[in-house]
Amino acid sequence: MVRPVATAGPRVNSGRYGRPRAQRRPTSTTGDEFPTGRRGLTVSAGARYSHPVATRSASFAHRHLVGIADLDAAAIGVILDLADRHQAIAAEPVKKLATLRGKTVINLFFENSTRTRTSFEIAAKRLSADAVNISPSQSSAAKGETLLDTAKNLDAMGPDVVVVRHAMGGAPHLLARTLRCAVVNAGDGQHEHPTQALLDAATMRRHKGQLAGLEVAIVGDLAHSRVARSNLLCLTKLGARVRLCAPWTLLPPGLTELGGDLTRERSRITTRLEDALDGADVVMMLRVQHERTAGEAPRFANPREFSRTYGLSARTLAYAKPDAIVMHPGPINRGVELAPDVADSGRAVILEQVSWGVAVRMAVLELLTGSAEA
Ligand code: CP
Repeated sequence: MVRPVATAGPRVNSGRYGRPRAQRRPTSTTGDEFPTGRRGLTVSAGARYSHPVATRSASFAHRHLVGIADLDAAAIGVILDLADRHQAIAAEPVKKLATLRGKTVINLFFENSTRTRTSFEIAAKRLSADAVNISPSQSSAAKGETLLDTAKNLDAMGPDVVVVRHAMGGAPHLLARTLRCAVVNAGDGQHEHPTQALLDAATMRRHKGQLAGLEVAIVGDLAHSRVARSNLLCLTKLGARVRLCAPWTLLPPGLTELGGDLTRERSRITTRLEDALDGADVVMMLRVQHERTAGEAPRFANPREFSRTYGLSARTLAYAKPDAIVMHPGPINRGVELAPDVADSGRAVILEQVSWGVAVRMAVLELLTGSAEA
């Protein structure tokens, strides 16, 4: 009689179908990646980076992150505080935590992206999640499958989070109403880009200590900018004051009404760059989004004229406070909204913003999956 032979190798099933959660413990393949603690979340033996015990945060009761509009200042603070802790991991020799071990994150980007898509992928991988990138041009979306059908089919495979970028404003909200997994908005049309605003707030906090009382100038193509909308909401919720600056042709109606009384009271519009910059603590420049106006009447004479009137140069930056920082969500149109010497100067914190993008997205993934630490 042939007896079944026990197979050697690791027991992999420690997820929802395996041992009860309380018995689960992260395992290490190298012996020091995931030293055990209650959730074993120190990065490496003797590392500076440590992470306390997991609980679902009482201040963050959201299933999805589709917009800053849905978050209050306390919830934003929870994300930023967690991101603060994760920022240190970039300097560690082993950039790996176990908090999302066994979870799956799908990046579903219907528009181009360098920073957001890559940083969500890195964030997921640093937390030990399985990260899957879907490129619509190589998916069945190219055969005519609807966004909702594509998303429902992906959801049927049991991911924990779908991160979606789409040209249609409201696309993540549609998915959030339908899918079982958590949905994160990675930019929906001209509506919101919440994780960009959060990483921007994290960068400002790092440089300015707190956002309350800051004067922030947001300058450029406000008509097409989801970054401007999310930042306006986020900054005013956190107590900053926002000056919005663009030519009339790039100013959408009702922008300062976006967040009700708060944005009405804490923001103002000007079409004069020097007025927006005067005494500002932070200058955030926005890209002119030519791709969204293809085939339309031009909004300004030409890039050189735009640069002369609304571009940030060493001359115009002098209107801001001497310690004002320069921000840009990227990608930059060098020489249009931002002079190259300013973009590359010590005043610019643009690459720091990118670095905070990973930490903020780690925090968001942890909080939405209930894996965050108290
Ligand atoms: N800031 C931003 O959203 O950049 P990407 O388009 O490269 O993701």
